[in-house]
Amino acid sequence: MAFDLPPLPYSKSALEPFLSERTLEFHHGKHHKAYVDKLNELVGGTNLATKSLEAIVAATVETKRRTEIFNNAAQASNHALFWKSMRPRGGGSPSGELAQGIQRDFGSFDKFRKQFTEAAVGQFGSGWAWLVLDNGELKIVKSADAMTPIAYGQTPLLACDVWEHAYSLDYQNRRPDFVAAFLDHLANWDAASVNLHLADKD
Ligand code: FE2
Repeated sequence: MAFDLPPLPYSKSALEPFLSERTLEFHHGKHHKAYVDKLNELVGGTNLATKSLEAIVAATVETKRRTEIFNNAAQASNHALFWKSMRPRGGGSPSGELAQGIQRDFGSFDKFRKQFTEAAVGQFGSGWAWLVLDNGELKIVKSADAMTPIAYGQTPLLACDVWEHAYSLDYQNRRPDFVAAFLDHLANWDAASVNLHLADKD
């Protein structure tokens, strides 16, 4: 059974003007697809072929020999969450259980926003900023290249891709402007709340 490229949960132009149709065409149709295709090529016919992306990440994170498999499985998983982390007319602040958790663990939504921005903008080179649940506590973490919080047993709730391919067509080198647009206009707090609810049940 091969891994599939999950379809975008909205049309390619749905996130305009904050992310262009052209960006989503390349980012989903070329970059994300390339990770899925490469993973299929690497694990086809092996005992990893029937595992979940998360299981492949866990099985390959500590093994240098399998770095290429890890990178492609992690990026396939990271991007699947990234697309769900955005929606048209998103952004703003969450409500309910997630809002209470952010208040509890960061002090306020403004403090969360500042810390998330620092993580996303401050990640040196390619990588990711995440809101995760770690032993019942909400945390912001950043990761380099393909690394995912799943590898550390954390549950990612919201992901922001800060590889240049995520924003350079629309924002050139202005990563802070992309991160601000992500938080103010794109972040899908409903999806993050569902992820928190599911994680709480585990
Ligand atoms: Fe990406």
